Amino acid sequence: MLQHFLKVLKHYLLTGLRERPNVKLIKFISKTSLTACFIALLPGTAQVSADHTSAASIAARIAPIGSICIQGQSCQSAVGVVANDPITVAARSGADIYNAACAGCHNTGAAGAPKLGDVGAWKLRADKGLDSLLATAISGINAMPAWGLCMDCSEPELRDTIQYILNNSK
Ligand code: HEC
Repeated sequence: MLQHFLKVLKHYLLTGLRERPNVKLIKFISKTSLTACFIALLPGTAQVSADHTSAASIAARIAPIGSICIQGQSCQSAVGVVANDPITVAARSGADIYNAACAGCHNTGAAGAPKLGDVGAWKLRADKGLDSLLATAISGINAMPAWGLCMDCSEPELRDTIQYILNNSK
């Protein structure tokens, strides 16, 4: 291709240029360069379109930016598609919530809070049953504020936290 191009170009330069320099040369150059461009682009376009319509490529483009994985589940199977940068949101344990929200009062006994590990104090309350303790923890009781001030806690999380307190106070 290139050799042929150079050969013809030489021919035009030596002979054709003398006769009708502008028209012939311009015609020749525009024709060959157009063809060359087309040929050069062909594999590229084919590759690009093939890549853009493949299932994997579409899945990658429409995949959500982030994904949530539940602790104990594989991130990939939980999302189903390509999980590039999964944000792992672990379910909070009773211990996590206790330390974050309850320890301030229940470790020190502040405001008369029954202390963690105080078997006697918690035995009396545990006898009411977990459901009853959950109900008073949600509504609040005396100096114990509603939800123990854990305003983003879910009911199961609060229940787990109370269970954590009871487990560590017997
Ligand atoms: C501001 C201090 C404070 C915080 C924070 C706090 N508590 Fe309490 N809690 C108390 C006090 C005081 C009591 C005792 C209330 C009473 O019986 O007079 C109490 C009692 C309880 C009881 C017993 C309720 C009953 O029915 O006898 C439970 C259960 C409890 N708290 C759970 C929690 C949990 C879970 C958290 C954290 C999510 C928490 N508390 C955070 C002060 C607090």
